[in-house]
Amino acid sequence: MKDAAPQTIHLADYAPPPWLVERVELTFRLAPTATRVLSRIRFVPNPATSDRRFFLHGEGLKTLSARIDGAEVTPREVPGGIEADVPDGAFTWEAEVEVDPAGNTALEGLYMSNGMYCTQCEAEGFRKITWYPDRPDVMAPFRVRIESDLPVLLSNGNPAGSGDGWAEWDDPWPKPAYLFALVAGDLVAHRDTFVTMSGREVALGIWVRAGDEDRCAFAMEALKASMRWDEEVYGREYDLDVFNIVAVDDFNMGAMENKGLNIFNSALVLASPDTATDATFERIEAVIAHEYFHNWTGNRVTCRDWFQLCLKEGLTVYRDQQFTSDMRSAAVKRIEDASLMRTRQFREDGGPLAHPVRPESFVEINNFYTITVYEKGAELIGMLKRLVGDDGYRKAVDLYFQRHDGEAATIEDWLAAFEEATGRDLSQFKLWYSQAGTPRLTVSEQWEDGTYTLTFRQETPPTPGQTDKQPLVIPLAVGLLNPNGDEVVPTTVLEMTKEEQSFTFDGLASRPVPSILRNFSAPVRLDRATTDAERAFLLAHDTDPYNKWDAGRALAMSALTAAATDGTAPGADYLDGLGRTLRDETLDPAFRALVLSLPSEDEIAQALHAAGTTPDPDAIHAGRRAVQEAIAGAHEATLADLHERMQPTGPYRPDADDAGRRSLANAALALLTRIDGGARARTQFAAADNMTQSVAALAALLAIGAGEDQSQTYHDRWQGERLVMDRWFGLRAGLAPAEQALDTTQELARHPAFHWKTPNRFRALVGGFANNHAGFHRADGRGYEFVTDWLLKLDPLNPQTAAGMSKVFETWGRYDAERQGKIRACLRRIAGTDRLSRDLGEMVQRMLG
Ligand code: ARG
Ligand code: ZN
Repeated sequence: MKDAAPQTIHLADYAPPPWLVERVELTFRLAPTATRVLSRIRFVPNPATSDRRFFLHGEGLKTLSARIDGAEVTPREVPGGIEADVPDGAFTWEAEVEVDPAGNTALEGLYMSNGMYCTQCEAEGFRKITWYPDRPDVMAPFRVRIESDLPVLLSNGNPAGSGDGWAEWDDPWPKPAYLFALVAGDLVAHRDTFVTMSGREVALGIWVRAGDEDRCAFAMEALKASMRWDEEVYGREYDLDVFNIVAVDDFNMGAMENKGLNIFNSALVLASPDTATDATFERIEAVIAHEYFHNWTGNRVTCRDWFQLCLKEGLTVYRDQQFTSDMRSAAVKRIEDASLMRTRQFREDGGPLAHPVRPESFVEINNFYTITVYEKGAELIGMLKRLVGDDGYRKAVDLYFQRHDGEAATIEDWLAAFEEATGRDLSQFKLWYSQAGTPRLTVSEQWEDGTYTLTFRQETPPTPGQTDKQPLVIPLAVGLLNPNGDEVVPTTVLEMTKEEQSFTFDGLASRPVPSILRNFSAPVRLDRATTDAERAFLLAHDTDPYNKWDAGRALAMSALTAAATDGTAPGADYLDGLGRTLRDETLDPAFRALVLSLPSEDEIAQALHAAGTTPDPDAIHAGRRAVQEAIAGAHEATLADLHERMQPTGPYRPDADDAGRRSLANAALALLTRIDGGARARTQFAAADNMTQSVAALAALLAIGAGEDQSQTYHDRWQGERLVMDRWFGLRAGLAPAEQALDTTQELARHPAFHWKTPNRFRALVGGFANNHAGFHRADGRGYEFVTDWLLKLDPLNPQTAAGMSKVFETWGRYDAERQGKIRACLRRIAGTDRLSRDLGEMVQRMLG
């Protein structure tokens, strides 16, 4: 087998597979450094093509034998795999290969984590397990036999027998190889059952290391709620006798939807009140749902090729967002999701890594599991639903399932189901999938004789490889308020299809105040000249929670950018408006917490850059702090009251109400800590009986350069708890005062518990430091050098995690020439390194442009 030189793969080059697989049988003889994998695969010619080349992917496999229809063969090595001469018709391929799970530090394929065997095959990891057409449009039923002395042996599908030292599994549902999974270890289960809508009982198990079994209850409840929700809302029933989830400490990503055997980063399963925060609980609930929902959107209907990734990810994210809205507060969830889009996705769209929701080329597909594919992909589904209505959406999704169950589909198939079910022409809508970048929407207004006209102009700035952009269909949810603050035109969805378009509202008694892009109805940047007075008016009166929050956000941002550029103190519109919002007891505490929390330094830098000002990280840091002090000074009594009164009483519960109250109390605490020397935070830390309260107090203290004792206490208490210690590394590096951030981080990198080969720990420290905006962007460039050194150290062992972390450099174009030069020098140093991985190599090339 030869090393494949990095090659660019294009969507336009798609060709159907010459051979399909009718059935796969695998036997694993597990041993840490020499696992034997025996495969027996029935191939049949694909009637859809006349090509009969027989090619199998493979990487790092030691082949012990290969047979076709029982006769020994010697396959030819070609880049990325092997070829062999085969009969004209169906035949059986058998191979025995050896792999080294213990030596697999890339955590892709079959690897070991704390003595347990596990797999991660998406996107192209199965080829590291055995020779196979490792592409998602080849689907087959799998039968798996595992031989090992370990007590728990799991794979996809239903159990099909077990005995001393072996177990067999049978998965009747045809699946692509990326959904294959195997787990073997000394694990314990948290068990439950679920009765499906047609009355079938499913055995549920969450498998963890001994000692973790009392931290699985929350994830189990989330799983059962997800199973019920998918039946009720999408009519989708589960289709096997068992559903297993395994928690793994060493994992490159969040979680993986392998058929009947989801594998999770343990950080997204394990939770108890004393070790997990409210935010972690909410995230676990959402990810459990996400992976479960993939059973239909991803597994039963999968992707034809990896360019179609958003077909399963965008849709499944959309579904998990709907689930969270139903389980918690829909308004709060929408603000959180929109905020994520506006910060991280707009950042990606505006930088060198911008790509369409359906990319057209890649070198390493793992680099395209992005916020654009996932979250913008979900926004496209939301827009579709807005355009065709709830009934049309349900009909279209039903048709899509009915038509493509058991198939590998495309975005074209998805849109065709919508066109047929609703009669709507989606040819212009389809541009959203191929055109990268964030449309910028400018607005002008006209008022004459009771008629109000809104004129919108859309423009999408150029992105790498795409200079000419076309107008998109943009659903614009708009409402109008009269000057008293009453709503005179309720939410109406305007459909913009042209570059410039006007919409008229008649019969109004007075000039209205518009509320535009309600509920973040499209992933666009709204650019409207307005005043702080009007923003304060909308913060007070808008009936749309997202726009109400956005008005507060805009006020905060105008205060922060002013403070960061000329040191101006926040004005009365912001401070008074904020005060009124905080005291408004009709508003959900979680909503008030969102209004109170300030944009991050990275967001301020992004806003300044968008407005044509070069961001100065130190000035942003100082300005943000000044604004926090001003808010705390102006509203000390209100904040102190909220901090005291909002703490829920009684035993800790991670539900939306209690979590919302805590988030308001803790947002107040963070501000008060700016002016009280840390007294309240120290008291809260000492008295805290749950992780949310102690972390909030510790973070507030670290942010003012205090909290040494609390940090030590936390460390000593939790040093045996890996997930809790990840948070400690992240907080210390992320919140250290800018001047000390690098020293602190370097010292933490020498801490005996800095297990840098574990992705969670690496991301906590290196990612935490990069999140320390002023610390990372220190003028001498040593922050950039530090991260570069670590990327180069990790890359030979774990390319995927190194490549993911390299995105901290994607914003280089925002900063001054000196900083730009220093970041580019680091990127060039990486690019010039010998034996760089395909993953990191592609990332730095794209960032260098
Ligand atoms: N399909 C998984 C999820 O979103 C993500 C797997 C990503 N893995 C990878 N190697 N890129 O649920
Ligand atoms: Zn997913």
